[in-house]
Amino acid sequence: MPEEFQPNSNSSKGPTMSRRRLITSLLGFSIVATLGGVVTPIIGYLWPPKRAFGGKSEPVQVGTAGEFPVGQGKVVPVNDKPVVVVNTEQEGVKAFSAICTHLGCIVEWDENRQIILCPCHDGRFSPFNGAVISGPPPAPLPELPVSVEGDAIYVTQI
Ligand code: FES
Repeated sequence: MPEEFQPNSNSSKGPTMSRRRLITSLLGFSIVATLGGVVTPIIGYLWPPKRAFGGKSEPVQVGTAGEFPVGQGKVVPVNDKPVVVVNTEQEGVKAFSAICTHLGCIVEWDENRQIILCPCHDGRFSPFNGAVISGPPPAPLPELPVSVEGDAIYVTQI
């Protein structure tokens, strides 16, 4: 007896099911990949990883006494953050965060006026305690611990 043609016979069902399974798998993979791409940055934003320099760090050498004569200062990086270091005549070497408390510009040392100056909106800070002298900054610059060992000047980022 000759075999009848059956559209759903095993010979045609096998490849159809395999193709369907492949498409379903690809669809599932693309859904998982999309969700992973969306959820991972959200999780990273909500729970950022602790950075190597987060929190209090070890003292970092910012220069030598010869590089900071009395009345001079400059902005130096300490653990990837800008710090303004000033050698004041009255109180010795001082260090402050160089990130302006107004809108976050980087302050600079104004040697002529002997102040820490924010060039963005003319915010002015004291080199002795970081206090606001004038301008829009709402708070003083945070002071950072300074230590001098021999000729080397160290600043600790807190
Ligand atoms: S950002 Fe420094 S004064 Fe505005």
